[in-house]
Amino acid sequence: MNEGMRAVVYDRYGPPKVLRLEDVARPVPNQDEVLVKIHATTVNRLDVHTREANRRSGLAVTLLSRLVSGVRRPRQRILGSEFAGEIEAVGGAVSEFGVGDHIFGTTGLRFGTNAEFMCVRESARIGHMPAGMNFEEAAAVCDGFLNALTCLKQVDLRKGKRILVYGASGSIGTAGVQLARYFRADVTAVCNTKNIELVKSLGADRVIDYTREDFTQNGETYDAIFDAVGKHSFKRCKGSLTKGGSYLATDGFRNLILALWTPRFGDKKVIFQIPPRQTKKDVLLLKELIEAGRYRAVIDRCYPLEDVVEATRYVETEQKTGNVVLTIEGGRAR
Ligand SMILES: NC(=O)c1ccc[n+]([C@@H]2O[C@H](COP(=O)([O-])OP(=O)(O)OC[C@H]3O[C@@H](n4cnc5c(N)ncnc54)[C@H](OP(=O)(O)O)[C@@H]3O)[C@@H](O)[C@H]2O)c1
Repeated sequence: MNEGMRAVVYDRYGPPKVLRLEDVARPVPNQDEVLVKIHATTVNRLDVHTREANRRSGLAVTLLSRLVSGVRRPRQRILGSEFAGEIEAVGGAVSEFGVGDHIFGTTGLRFGTNAEFMCVRESARIGHMPAGMNFEEAAAVCDGFLNALTCLKQVDLRKGKRILVYGASGSIGTAGVQLARYFRADVTAVCNTKNIELVKSLGADRVIDYTREDFTQNGETYDAIFDAVGKHSFKRCKGSLTKGGSYLATDGFRNLILALWTPRFGDKKVIFQIPPRQTKKDVLLLKELIEAGRYRAVIDRCYPLEDVVEATRYVETEQKTGNVVLTIEGGRAR
């Protein structure tokens, strides 16, 4: 008899209330997969956008989103891309991991982590959990880090280079500040008053409170402006970029067009990598940085899996600081 598990499922695109807990079949690992008993997962912006078929981004993006996730209804019923947990079983061809190992990582657009168990390929963006981290912290580090790394790798960041991180308190923003610091760049971060101390503690050389100062009007210029929250624009930032400077986008259909156009004309460009190239090697770098004390998790709130709708509504406020975690009390057979 197939063992069961609890999972958060949805069968139509829509508001947070389309999510519900359901008993479903527990997956069985293929030869190259591990079965993970998940202890912590997250709700992030990827889940939110996918669940509503990117309806806020216009018709073209909505259609694209449905082509990827299922035209009439979602093909993958279980959302969640980040996880930390314990290996319950391994396929015959798995050599890197064994039963009982604690692992973390991301399934990206394959989703499936808002559940008690899931299967993931050994070669996927997963690794052994960083020493000294708990499950909640390990679940919360991948998405922001990989998204920020994808962007920052596109520019020549090193000592002496100046970067401004706009939206420095979000999941990608908190990662961007820590990574820019790791690359030894000079980091100016922009956030709301309440997050100033946090952002300083992540390694920003200076912090601008956007409720008091408009960075585009203070005469400072930067080699790169990282719009980590998709709330600014190339047009408004252009005057604050040095000659040859780059605007790094994380969102917005118009930035896709600008990323094709601007590198060919003019001396300042938009960079927007779609689809983002993220690898297992990146996850291993993340583990290394955490263990060296150069990167940490930023968690705003933790909810039990049962409260996924409430957690999702909070993520949708676009006011979270860092990440929102879902905790799972011991996966069980039914
Ligand atoms: N996470 C993903 O998986 C993913 C994937 C692809 C693309 N994206 C895109 O990447 C962007 C960032 O995602 P995220 O998950 O990092 O976002 P997030 O964590 O939800 O961002 C929330 C943070 O943004 C700040 N913020 C909100 N409005 C702002 C504004 N007008 N100016 C400056 N800061 C503002 C808030 O801080 P204050 O309270 O200080 O305002 C809050 O701390 C989004 O546009 C998202 O669509 C995300």
